[in-house]
Amino acid sequence: MRPAPRAPSAQVYVCTNARAPEDPLRSACGEHGPGVFRALKAEVFRRSGGRVWVTATGCQGHCPRGGCAVALQPSNTHLVDVTEGDVPALTEVLCKGP
Ligand code: FES
Repeated sequence: MRPAPRAPSAQVYVCTNARAPEDPLRSACGEHGPGVFRALKAEVFRRSGGRVWVTATGCQGHCPRGGCAVALQPSNTHLVDVTEGDVPALTEVLCKGP
C-alpha cells in the first residue's frame, strides 16, 4: 500500500442504503440519503472548491427512522434524521474557514 496522492480537508459520508419495504429497520436512509447526497455534493463542491469531499455509503449502523445518517470527518460527528432541509447548515459547518 501507499499514501493516496491527495486527501480532502474534510469528508462527509451520507448513508444511501435502501431496504425492502417489509424490512423492520425500514429504509429512511434509502428515501432521504440520495437527495441529501446530491444536494450536499453540489453545494459543498461549489463552496469548498473540491477541498471537502462528499461520499455516499452503505449502512453506518445508526438506521434512523426519519431522514438519513451522516458522518462528518475529521470531527467524527455522527448525525441521524438528516433531510435535504439540513443541507445549508451542514454546508456551512463543512465549508467554514480554518
Ligand atoms: S441504513 Fe443508514 S445507517 Fe443504517
